[in-house]
Amino acid sequence: MGKFPENFMWGGATAANQLEGAYQTNGKGLSIADAMPGGKERMSILMSPEFDWTIDEEKYVYPNHHGIDYYHHFKEDIALFAEMGFKCYRFSIAWSRIFPKGDENTPNEDGLKFYEEVIDTCLSYNIEPVVTISHYEMPLYLAKEYGGWKNRALIGFYERYATSLFERFIKKVKYWMTFNEINSAFHLPVLSQGMIPITGSTNKKNLFQAFHNQFVASSLAVKKAHELRSDSQVGCMIIYATTYSYDCNPINELETLLGKQEFNFFCSDVQVRGKYPSYTNRLLKKYELSLADLLIEEDDYSILAENTVDYIGFSYYMSAVVDITKKQDKTKGNLMQTIRNPFLDTSEWGWQIDPTGLRIALNELYDRYQKPVFVVENGLGAVDTVEKDGIHDTYRIDYLRQHIDAMSGAIDDGIDLMGYTPWGCIDLVSASTGEMSKRYGFIYVDLDDQGQGTANRMKKDSFSWYQQVIASGGEER
Ligand code: BG6
Repeated sequence: MGKFPENFMWGGATAANQLEGAYQTNGKGLSIADAMPGGKERMSILMSPEFDWTIDEEKYVYPNHHGIDYYHHFKEDIALFAEMGFKCYRFSIAWSRIFPKGDENTPNEDGLKFYEEVIDTCLSYNIEPVVTISHYEMPLYLAKEYGGWKNRALIGFYERYATSLFERFIKKVKYWMTFNEINSAFHLPVLSQGMIPITGSTNKKNLFQAFHNQFVASSLAVKKAHELRSDSQVGCMIIYATTYSYDCNPINELETLLGKQEFNFFCSDVQVRGKYPSYTNRLLKKYELSLADLLIEEDDYSILAENTVDYIGFSYYMSAVVDITKKQDKTKGNLMQTIRNPFLDTSEWGWQIDPTGLRIALNELYDRYQKPVFVVENGLGAVDTVEKDGIHDTYRIDYLRQHIDAMSGAIDDGIDLMGYTPWGCIDLVSASTGEMSKRYGFIYVDLDDQGQGTANRMKKDSFSWYQQVIASGGEER
């Protein structure tokens, strides 16, 4: 099996809204994540026609308000990452810590200072920061007053925000990503586009307009980063769900191909190749639309063409199955539902575990774009039990080991793989359900779904296992 390169970026990944807490500290404004109730009903509440971003603390808990209080613990948390041997740490910046409402002219100095300390702490351990500019946490004000990303005004606000980050941090931070899981909006426009039914999330024209605005904003960020630091690396970031036809029926195979073009590839095709793909008209026609229905300015096309991303970051948790010929059993997945694959097991949350699918994903992406790929999220959300003698998360070790095997296979296949940052390297609030009990970490955090507990950190068995994986360059796993 393929050897991991010397400079392989082993690390872990988190997002500001899911761990920082301190949701109104030192000038931070509310973000959309602060208005998301916790619990398994989270997504159905957000998608209900009545939901209007009102925060109702009598009725719901809001786990993102407190996260794991990383805001006050980041030094000890990063020290633990360093103890595991992290070469890099992927984290996001909370837009509303820098621009509390989103449309201000000047950034909040306290917000910048906080991230400066985070970055400096990483650098003091030789941990390379990998920064996501927007990870499911746009300022709530932009979602409420501007209706989210369908509004072209957001391009300018995002450009100002990204520019403030680059001006302050780009000398210290080489690796960036513009939008987390940009394509997730095909299933759920709320998280990455800040749109809900009352602001038009169910209207496909708004979905594609929001995508267009995000593509232009992303390219403007790439442009600025490259101007300020010529060797900076800015990536796109997509959810990748390797997708299989249920059988060899050609009509299922065709549907699989068309579905992949839409969900897996549409966004990265634009961000990597700098233009709308050849199937765009067919795709838009499906929704009775064409590019002419969108507000696109003349310059947009050259901005997209001239400022493509440097690498492809993606999350990979599960694979999906397509069958349009009959009714099949469904199971849950990362922000989507899919048909059950008889060859795969599922996690406790119903996500289908498929390490080989990761090797396929790496091949499909690299073959398509011939640009470096980076697995920036992967992992098993599971309930952990604290025993008298520790937390024995062998199921997590098995999951990660099999996915590392798959990456090693992909390296053998000739893939230019930059690194691996498993998700939620320290337990944090789940994005889809707001639960704490859905844990991904190497480090356990003593908090429950109601936010009760000591918030103490404890190493799980996977902690020393991952430490050994990194120390051996992936050989001992
Ligand atoms: C990805 C997101 O979809 O998956 C993360 O980028 C998220 O924010 C992760 O936490 C795992 O999903 P969940 O719903 O289990 O937290």
